Formats: sequence, C-alpha cells, structure tokens
Amino acid sequence: MSSDISVKVGSVELKSPIILASGTCNFGHELSEYYDLSILGGLSSKGLTIKPRVGNEGVRVAETAAGMLNSVGLQNPGVDYFIEHDLDYMDSLGCGRIINVAGHSFDDYVAMIEKLDPHKDKIDALEINLSCPNVKAGCMSIGSDPEQIKLIVSALRERTDLPLWIKLTPNVTDIKTMALAAQEGGADAVVLINTLLGMAVDIRTRRPVLRNNTGGYSGPAVKPVAIRMVSECYQVLDIPIIGCGGISNYEDVLEFMIAGASAVEIGTASLVHPTCPVDITEDLKKWSEVSGESLSSLTGTLKLW
Ligand code: FUM
Repeated sequence: MSSDISVKVGSVELKSPIILASGTCNFGHELSEYYDLSILGGLSSKGLTIKPRVGNEGVRVAETAAGMLNSVGLQNPGVDYFIEHDLDYMDSLGCGRIINVAGHSFDDYVAMIEKLDPHKDKIDALEINLSCPNVKAGCMSIGSDPEQIKLIVSALRERTDLPLWIKLTPNVTDIKTMALAAQEGGADAVVLINTLLGMAVDIRTRRPVLRNNTGGYSGPAVKPVAIRMVSECYQVLDIPIIGCGGISNYEDVLEFMIAGASAVEIGTASLVHPTCPVDITEDLKKWSEVSGESLSSLTGTLKLW
C-alpha cells in the first residue's frame, strides 16, 4: 500500500498540504536546526514590508488558556535585506517558497511586488497579507473592505504572474464578501484565517497584558471559527483555499480539508512543539496508506446537513 499526501493549490504543486504559517518560522533558519524542512509542503516567510520594522514594544506575546495572543507588529528586516540575505536560503530548503507581503497602503503593496517579481524563479507564491491586526495603518483595515481588497489584488495581478494567495482577516462580519472580492481581483487562492483580535487583562495592574493593548489570538480555540469560514467560502469560491487556525494534529488537517481547504498552515502548534509538522506528516501518510485515499481527494467532501 502506498500513500499520497501531495496537493495542488491552483498551479502550485506541494508534496504535502503542510505549510508553516507566516510569523511562526521566520525564514526557516532556526527551525531547520530541529528537522529537515524539505518534508514540508511549504514555508511562508515572516511578513515583509518595504522598510525594515522593529515591531511593537513588549510585552508582545502572551499565553492564554486555550491559545496565544501576539502583537509583534510586523518586525522584519525589510524586503531588500530579505532578497539579499534570506531568499536564497529559503530557496535552498527544498519546500514550497511562500513570501508573505505586508504593507500600510496601496503603494506599499505595489512597490513590494515590483521588488519581488524579478526573483520569481525562487518564489512559488506571494501571500498577500491583508490581515495583520497589530499595525495602525493598512493590512487588516484594507482586508476589512471588499473594495480595497479588489483594488489592491487587481493592481498586483497586473504586475505579476506569480500566484497570489490573499491572507484574510476573520475580524469581519462576512468573510465570503472579502474572499469573493479577492477572487474578483484575480487572486489564485485565499488563506483563511489570520488571527482574531483579542485582549488579555492583568488583574493586578488592571492593564492589558500586551503593551499594544490588543493582539491577534491563535491556537486551538480558533479552529472552529476557521473551519466555519473555510466551509462558507468553499461554497461560493472558484479558487482554492488554504486553511489556517489552531491545527495541531493530523485529524485537524483532515477536518480543514473536508471543509474545503486544499492545503493548510500550521503556526501556534509549531511554537509549542517545533517538530509537530514531522509527526503530522507521518500521521497523514499513515492515514492515506490505511484508507487508500489520496489526501487531495478529501477537499470539500463535507456533507452539510
Ligand atoms: O504582528 C504581527 O507581526 C502579525 C502579523 C500577522 O498576523 O500577519
């Protein structure tokens, strides 16, 4: 008996559905000391911006009962430094090379694409981050407005042939409207979901635990929200979905795929157990071998009541 855990996200072929989520693996250097990252379907870089950013003041990360809050604030070395120092490294890892692109304005996103497109031989997809909840301008505010989503995605579509994966925020009333706007703009896929806006309070100081007051909530507690959004969007979209939110074992991956995901991203779980993607990959192979089903055949097989 053999197993088949390869998947396709539009034109992008991945050896496994597992992608490390942006912001939880930097550019791969640190995690590659723990395991061979070539087993992965892909790795999504930390969100990059035109200029380097030091990020928000600490405290920036807090554990909660069923997840984690972060307000990193897009700390990154800037796209030029990344291209010069990290892109070749990501290219050498042997897994899908996904570059997460963040910005504060329409012009930022366009300028980022103009910087990255000439390096298309080292990039499998651009993950357009319209969803970071931790910066004052851009990102999540753009991703909460369907007109702005469509405007930006179509402008990027005109400037690159690289697959555009649009990472959307769950902090909206109707995720379908946002996903459809991305599709209308010419997106190749949507990534659902980025973090939920949250807050934790220190009862001694009566101040928010995070210096930024609020942060993005991730981890096992958000999984049902993410699955619901994947399922809702699968019913209306023609483009593929990459599921993300609280995945920590192979059954979570199956759940996302049945709901409509073609691939998935793992973030918070890999911060807790850095090698969990290795175990999940092995478990997915065993599942495929024993069931006789290819993983990709699961996508969207949910039978709604
Ligand atoms: O604060 C951060 O850097 C988070 C980024 C994101 O959620 O995309």
